[in-house]
Amino acid sequence: MKLNHIKYKQRNITIWNEVAPRYHKRWASINQGPFQSTSKLIQLLDINKGDKVLDLACGTGVVTKKIRQKVGRSGYVLGGDTSVTAIKIAKKWNGSQSNLGFVNIDAENFNFSKPFDIITCQYALFFFPNAQKALKNIKKNLKKTGKIGITVHGAAKKVPFFSSILDAVTELIPDYFPPGSPDLDRFGTKSSLKGEVRKAGFSKITVKNFIFKFNPGTFEDYWRNYLRYVAKPLKEKLDALDRSKKKKLKNAVRENVKPYTLKNKTIEFPWEVLILTAKN
Ligand SMILES: C[S@@+](CC[C@H](N)C(=O)[O-])C[C@H]1O[C@@H](n2cnc3c(N)ncnc32)[C@H](O)[C@@H]1O
Repeated sequence: MKLNHIKYKQRNITIWNEVAPRYHKRWASINQGPFQSTSKLIQLLDINKGDKVLDLACGTGVVTKKIRQKVGRSGYVLGGDTSVTAIKIAKKWNGSQSNLGFVNIDAENFNFSKPFDIITCQYALFFFPNAQKALKNIKKNLKKTGKIGITVHGAAKKVPFFSSILDAVTELIPDYFPPGSPDLDRFGTKSSLKGEVRKAGFSKITVKNFIFKFNPGTFEDYWRNYLRYVAKPLKEKLDALDRSKKKKLKNAVRENVKPYTLKNKTIEFPWEVLILTAKN
C-alpha cells in the first residue's frame, strides 16, 4: 500500500506532541541506556568553539544542550523539530541562552539563508518517510566543508527492548502500525545507513556501532512501563484486545525477554546504536 506522507507526518506530529513530556522524563533527560549515544555523537563530531550547528529533530533538546556547551559564546546551535510540545519542553529545559534557539521545522522541507558547519540528527532519520529528501535537504543547508552526525537504533534483533514487545504485538495486531508505514528498522545496519547517506551525495562516511546496556527492571516493570509510555493510538489498539488475547500477548513477551533475564529477575537488554559521521 502506498503511504500518504502527509498523513504519516501528521500522525507523527500528533504522537510526539502527546508523548514528548513522557519521553523527556523517561529517556532524553537521562544519560542511560541508548542515550549514552549523545556524548559519543558529540565526541565523534569534534565540535569546535564558534561552530554553527543545527540539531535536526532535536525533540526535547538533549543533543542540543550538549552541543551548546561545545560551541561556546562565539558559536550557535539551533534545535529544530516538528513537535510543538517537544520544542516547548526543549526551550524550558535549556533556558534562555544567547547561543541557542529552537524552531519548528520539518526535516524534509526546511531551508535557512546561512549554511551550518554541522548538522546532527539523533534517533529520527527512520521517522522521515522520505529520508532521502531529508538528507538532500541537510546537504543543501550545510557548508561545503560541513559535516553531519546521525544516530540510529540498530536492527530489531539488536534492540530487544523494542522487538521483545513488537514481535509479539504485531503478530496479534498486524495493523498495530498503519499499513504502509516506513519500516523503522530500515537504517539499522551499517550498510543500509551508509548506503542511504551515500546516495544523498555525502563523502568520507564512517559508521560506528555501540552496544549499550539497558535495565528496565523486572518483567512486570518492563511491561507496565510500556503500557504507560506508549502513544495513545497504539494504547487504544492494545486496550481493544479481549482478555485472552491480552494474556496471550503478555505471555509471549515474557517468553521473549527470558534470554535477557538475570538471576535477580531483572532484565538486561543489549541495545545497539549506530552513529554515522560524514562530510558534505
Ligand atoms: C526519538 S525522538 C529524538 C529526539 C532527540 N533527537 C533525542 O535524541 O532525544 C524523534 C523526534 O523526531 C521528530 N520528528 C519526527 N519526524 C520529523 C520530521 N519530519 N521533521 C522534524 N522532526 C521530526 C519527533 O517530533 C521527535 O521529537
